Amino acid sequence: MSLKPVAKNSHPLHQTNGIVLDSAYQGINQAGWRSLFQQAKDAKLEQFIADLFAGKAVNNSENRPALHSALRNLDKSPVLVDGKDVMPDVAEVWHRIEALCNKWVGVTDVIHIGIGGSDFGPRLAIEALAHVPDIDSSGMRLHFLANIDTAELNRILQRALPHSTKVIIVSKSFTTLETTMNAKAVVKWLKNNGLTDSQIGKSLFAVTANVPAAKEFGIDQDHIYPFWDWVGGRYSVWSAVGLPIALQYGFDTFKEFLSGAQAIDQHFKTAPLEENLPVIMALSLLYQQEKHNIKSYAVIPYADALDWFPKWLQQLDMESNGKSVDRDGKPVKFSCPVVFGSSGSNAQHSYFQLLHQGTEIIPIDFIAVREPMSNLPEAKAHHRILLSNCLAQAQALANGKKTDNPNNTYPGKRPSNLLILPKLNAFYLGALLALYENRTAALGALWNINSFDQPGVELGKVLAKPIEAALKNDGTVQANAGIDEVTAARINLFNQ
Ligand code: F6P
Repeated sequence: MSLKPVAKNSHPLHQTNGIVLDSAYQGINQAGWRSLFQQAKDAKLEQFIADLFAGKAVNNSENRPALHSALRNLDKSPVLVDGKDVMPDVAEVWHRIEALCNKWVGVTDVIHIGIGGSDFGPRLAIEALAHVPDIDSSGMRLHFLANIDTAELNRILQRALPHSTKVIIVSKSFTTLETTMNAKAVVKWLKNNGLTDSQIGKSLFAVTANVPAAKEFGIDQDHIYPFWDWVGGRYSVWSAVGLPIALQYGFDTFKEFLSGAQAIDQHFKTAPLEENLPVIMALSLLYQQEKHNIKSYAVIPYADALDWFPKWLQQLDMESNGKSVDRDGKPVKFSCPVVFGSSGSNAQHSYFQLLHQGTEIIPIDFIAVREPMSNLPEAKAHHRILLSNCLAQAQALANGKKTDNPNNTYPGKRPSNLLILPKLNAFYLGALLALYENRTAALGALWNINSFDQPGVELGKVLAKPIEAALKNDGTVQANAGIDEVTAARINLFNQ
């Protein structure tokens, strides 16, 4: 089906695999789009995309490829890292995941322990797919344990049944303190509930790129599902990090999820820039940034199932592109704006006032799903209202409204994209995440930023160590090499 532009702006409507991107309310005219595509060409975006998929070391600071696309390469066409095809290892993990899916009979609870990229993806997918009408589910209670705050641990341990619980420890590095400490606490809970060492061994599983550390923790080799250095944590849901998706909804559903992402990779890799959805989404943000110096943007899925999507996207975008220097260490003029959001129409009743009348222009990605997400008799009528709200907000933001009363005046010219998914199932969820992953990578390339490292998260982790020791000692602390005066005084407040 070919779609015709609907507005005077010349580049508003594109689609791939049934997903439609409507950028009519970006306010970009034909000449504007031409110059944006030229900018992308000048930034050698096409070469970057080719390098990304070819396994070149696009993560230049760590001298690694970023080959999460190999994890959804269901055709198993060779993907080389240092001259070796990684697909046999990837496929071996798929076989092991599939085999595990049939084994967990009588399991009531799964505790998935992991944080950041080892948490958001599977948590979002489990939550989103739970809303798919008539989806087959094993019905296990899936508990996500991320925070070191024992409130989360306590809540989970009060609900889970220790003798029928499986535990999956997910950590690329297997050194993340939150994860290893929570894992130790859960093992202790199993012991305290009378499980023998051998029973505990049968309950524990790990997903990691650091297999020796998982073994050292006491996990059976057969229970360790590896992934690899060339997969960034925030891009890892496609690996065995997504194991809960397969365990809960079946291996075929997991494959569908991968297949949706693969379809988008194919599109991103082969579509000309002018028809390439992740590229167009990236360029529209770039335009608003260069024109209005925007500092933030919002993503509002009009689907309750996608309530976790903005949180997943926050890590993806801000950990990837929240940087002040480019690939060569030179200061950049622009990088990642703050991203925030939550599901509509709830968001309308919260911060949309500012989006309509605040002093800042905040571009929005609206995401709508054609089909309702339940089989209730009310589903169609409610869905119409959901969609009408989504469309109305975009129109109000774009056109505004003039009145004699400044308080009631809407300035308008507030840009947005509309992304329409035909339905929300595993395929389109995979496609949606891959669209944004590729958009993030395209933005990094346009800003000349390495989107695949995260050096900025390290300093706080290092500083926390002497602070934790000082809190443990319980005495008065003086400022020293690792603790400044303000923090020393704060520690003393806690130690009082
Ligand atoms: O501290 C940030 C970070 O390294 C993220 O990049 C990552 O997703 C998260 O921590 C968890 O890391 P890991 O999977 O190694 O436990």
